[in-house]
Amino acid sequence: MKVAVLGAAGGIGQALSLLLKNGLPAGSELALYDVAPVVPGVAVDLSHIPTAVKVAGFGKDDLDAALVDADIVLIPAGMPRKPGMDRADLFNVNAGIIKTLSEGIVKNCPKALVGVITNPVNGTVPIVAEVFKKAGTYDPARVFGVTTLDVIRAETFIAELRGLNVNDVKVPVIGGHSGTTILPLLSQVEGVEFSDEEVAALTKRIQNAGTEVVEAKAGGGSATLSMGAAAARFCFSLVKGLQGENVVEYAYVEGNTGDATFFAQPVRLGKNGVEELLPYGELSAFEQQAKDDMLATLEKDIKEGVDFMA
Ligand code: NAD
Ligand code: LMR
Repeated sequence: MKVAVLGAAGGIGQALSLLLKNGLPAGSELALYDVAPVVPGVAVDLSHIPTAVKVAGFGKDDLDAALVDADIVLIPAGMPRKPGMDRADLFNVNAGIIKTLSEGIVKNCPKALVGVITNPVNGTVPIVAEVFKKAGTYDPARVFGVTTLDVIRAETFIAELRGLNVNDVKVPVIGGHSGTTILPLLSQVEGVEFSDEEVAALTKRIQNAGTEVVEAKAGGGSATLSMGAAAARFCFSLVKGLQGENVVEYAYVEGNTGDATFFAQPVRLGKNGVEELLPYGELSAFEQQAKDDMLATLEKDIKEGVDFMA
């Protein structure tokens, strides 16, 4: 198994790479790519951890070598938010980065499973898809926007609120990854009932959790450690799928819900990425209204990505 992390010297990149060094199956290779000159040092640092995962660092001119024959590519490269910014404000800077990196993937590992972390996810994932389409090698089953952070936040907040073991709490989160496009399905949380006031407050907290971190870091960036944990969880699920295990995650994919071209929904992972697109089930009246209200925003974000490539 070869996993490439693009943007590996950043806040997410380093946390994620540490977790992958400790958690990938023995014999795996971890390729760390970044334009920042510190990346070979990050690789040397990680290589001293005693696990059977080989780590190599690749500087700005070595994208091809980092990507060649990768099975999984995770992309946390690009600029994070500062207080007062929306994720959409990152589009102009990050779109070009995603395009360049996707072209490298198409050239060196067109069959890899690609997990996009870079914001705005609603618009960067369509860019990856368009780059693949241009090359004639697009497979929607292999391109994912990583929305796992929304899921783990929802699970954590609900477990805290109700004093539950967080391992027993499962929360579907559908839609996109920004503001109201993040839609937790609290009506589907098994064994837990919420009042209308709780649903409204929890939904808002989950939607604003990224901003909560951005404001707490006061100009020092956005979520890195929790995102590292979320991306590692998603990567380990991709690995399990590639190894033939049956595993379900929520991810932002070109799916079949009919809501928007790209939409986070449950997917069964397997040897070819998405083996099966799963339905998100019945929505409460509150969730249905929230979904209807956010679709125009999500479509606009998606169009921005598609138009960038046109
Ligand atoms: P960071 O600034 O700490 O790290 C970004 C890294 O990307 C830096 O090391 C930088 O050198 C590198 N980089 C820039 N251009 C590059 C290129 N062309 N090729 C390779 N590397 C390049 O930022 P961060 O906190 O790690 O956040 C990274 C991105 O992830 C941001 O866009 C942020 O908004 C996003 N993010 C997404 C989620 C999510 O849930 N999907 C969560 C948190 C953050
Ligand atoms: C998050 O949800 O924490 C990320 O998308 C980063 C951000 O800008 O909020």
